[in-house]
Amino acid sequence: MYARMKACLFLANNEPMVVEELTLDPPSAPGEVHVKWAATGVCHSDLSVWEGKLPVPPGSILGHEGAGVVVSANETKSGLQPGDHVIGVFQPSCGECFYCRSGQAYICDQALAIGMGRTPFNRSDGSKLFGALGGLATFSEETVVHEGALVKIPDDFPFEEACLIGCGVTTGVGAALNAAKVTPGSSVAVIGCGGVGQAVVQGARIAGAETIIAVDLNEAKRAAATKLGATHTVDPSVDEPVGFVHGLTDGRGADFTFEVVGTPELQRLSYDMARPGGAACWVGVPALSAEVTLPGAMVTLQAKSVIGTMYGNANCKDDFVRFINYAKKGDLNLTDMVSQKLTIDDINEAFTAMVEGDVIR
Ligand SMILES: NC(=O)c1ccc[n+]([C@@H]2O[C@H](COP(=O)([O-])OP(=O)(O)OC[C@H]3O[C@@H](n4cnc5c(N)ncnc54)[C@H](O)[C@@H]3O)[C@@H](O)[C@H]2O)c1
Ligand SMILES: [Zn+2]
Ligand SMILES: [Zn+2]
Repeated sequence: MYARMKACLFLANNEPMVVEELTLDPPSAPGEVHVKWAATGVCHSDLSVWEGKLPVPPGSILGHEGAGVVVSANETKSGLQPGDHVIGVFQPSCGECFYCRSGQAYICDQALAIGMGRTPFNRSDGSKLFGALGGLATFSEETVVHEGALVKIPDDFPFEEACLIGCGVTTGVGAALNAAKVTPGSSVAVIGCGGVGQAVVQGARIAGAETIIAVDLNEAKRAAATKLGATHTVDPSVDEPVGFVHGLTDGRGADFTFEVVGTPELQRLSYDMARPGGAACWVGVPALSAEVTLPGAMVTLQAKSVIGTMYGNANCKDDFVRFINYAKKGDLNLTDMVSQKLTIDDINEAFTAMVEGDVIR
């Protein structure tokens, strides 16, 4: 027997997760690393998997926004050592495929094989579970993952803030800086100000946007967005949001808009909110079967761009440390993104808090 530890088991869609003691297999293949998680965020993508909207089967352990410490490393090329502080990469990369060689490791074609290729978790009945997104299984106390799913970080940065960089912060800040490339003095509208949307707001502020309009149904989210950099907020159940954005941009629409909820209707709304020549950047992930309709002629005639972004188009090895440095300088506020701290036994309460909209992260 190797490590005994607690984990949250995802055994059926839309059924409460079960917290149970499991046994962890030791790292065995070259490049495998045993990590003890110190903190994890709870992301809407975990919820989408749990609800069956994203195709990751039950019989797994969710959680993909984690920071922790290396316990042991087996024949790694990255030089990871016991004691190193790390953040998990939910879209691991091989460093060798076409995409990795083209600077697009965030769509590495080996990501699934590297991430979900192992089942190190053993139940007492002999059955095995796999780590879901990236193989990270951050809703467990410990895990065994491939080194391609880990980035070493400085050991003087708090885990509970570092973990957010593993998904929400990198996705949102990266969407603004790397994918849409928000420009100084520009106008930006962000639809959906949960954990990821708040990071888009901060990314737009860091890029020097002059007008940042936060669109969210939830008053607390709008208030948080104002604290983190939004210059205006709109409640779309009260004010028609496209007209609101046009009213603040001389009738044109925003230079950059972001959809950060994950529905085809809001993707279309983000398109309508963008000005001619502007860009709508899609961050939210709708159900895999969803389709979106755009006015084909107008996409051409108004020279509008639609940009999809995965993981903030980030190069995690550099961007994780870059974002930690932004936080250390005070440019990126992670402290106010940690709304609530719970223990592993409260995983279902954490999901409920996200659904009810009480928390940023
Ligand atoms: N592209 C990527 O790489 C990537 C990475 C992480 C998350 N995501 C996706 O980003 C999306 C957001 O994730 P999150 O963790 O921030 O979710 P979240 O649940 O924390 O936030 C969603 C926000 O949307 C708001 N909202 C819901 N309906 C709305 C509406 N009609 N108009 C305006 N606001 C509305 C909610 O009030 C909430 O604040 C999800 O679809 C998630 O799967 C994508
Ligand atoms: Zn996520
Ligand atoms: Zn690759």
